[in-house]
Amino acid sequence: EIVYLDGAFLPADQAKVSVFDRGFLFGDSVYEVIPFYQGVGFRLEEHLARLAHSLDALQIPHSDNLDEALNKLVAQNGGGNVSVYVQITRGNAGKRSHAVTADITPTVFACCQPIAPIYETGPEVIEGARVIVTDDLRWQRCDIKANGLLANILAMRQAHEAGAAEALLQKEGWINEGSSSNVFIVEQGHVITPPLHKGILSGTTRALVLELAQQHGVQVTESNISYERLIGADEVWITSSTRGVLPVTAVDEHPIAGGQKGPLWLQMFKLFTRYQQ
Ligand code: PDD
Repeated sequence: EIVYLDGAFLPADQAKVSVFDRGFLFGDSVYEVIPFYQGVGFRLEEHLARLAHSLDALQIPHSDNLDEALNKLVAQNGGGNVSVYVQITRGNAGKRSHAVTADITPTVFACCQPIAPIYETGPEVIEGARVIVTDDLRWQRCDIKANGLLANILAMRQAHEAGAAEALLQKEGWINEGSSSNVFIVEQGHVITPPLHKGILSGTTRALVLELAQQHGVQVTESNISYERLIGADEVWITSSTRGVLPVTAVDEHPIAGGQKGPLWLQMFKLFTRYQQ
């Protein structure tokens, strides 16, 4: 396995990061997860734009020609269907100090891992997911794709203990998003997803679903979703770069869509799998 570190392409076991790296010491870093299908980045531009947003929010300098580096990394690993993980930390300051100095060079790391080719499969192989709802314990800047993921990990652990595939996170009475996905519901043919604010990540898959729905005359609204609305919905979906658009068939102990994959999900899945960027 070849990974990318600070301009070099090298075997994973030869890639080394300092113990004084602020990513390691403070979680002072941001990341992206970008799917590549048949070796080609899917909505790469949108992912890099979000990465720029995360970096700007933390005043970490951007790195040049990252798209070129990622394409090269995927090619060096044989192309195919992979998700590329990119992490940019504020860098190595040589000592542990909360204060940030201007002279640090960011650490840029990327690696690949195999991904299910969701865009090449038929809807029949997609299994509906069970999800749980739990408290959103995260901080107030979830629009930044930051590496401090403890609250997400605790929530996901809780989901797995309940035999569920995802935890939806609830704050002040609203279901915001999943631990690593965005959430959608369907009410009488109408698609609804929570509006963007600093409490959720601006999902690239979310944006594509909204784009496709609008193009194909499916009504969409960005609106807050309560627990009652969620469990009473005709359909529930979660979206992410690694899972695409996934139908949810149960929320906690409540079956959704009679425990089946819904018709609007099927329509969206087809639009998705036929989407050519
Ligand atoms: N997570 N919300 C959160 C909190 C996420 O972590 C993610 C993605 C999403 C969906 O965003 P997108 O559609 O751009 O993948 C929403 C990635 C996959 C991860 O952390 O592994």
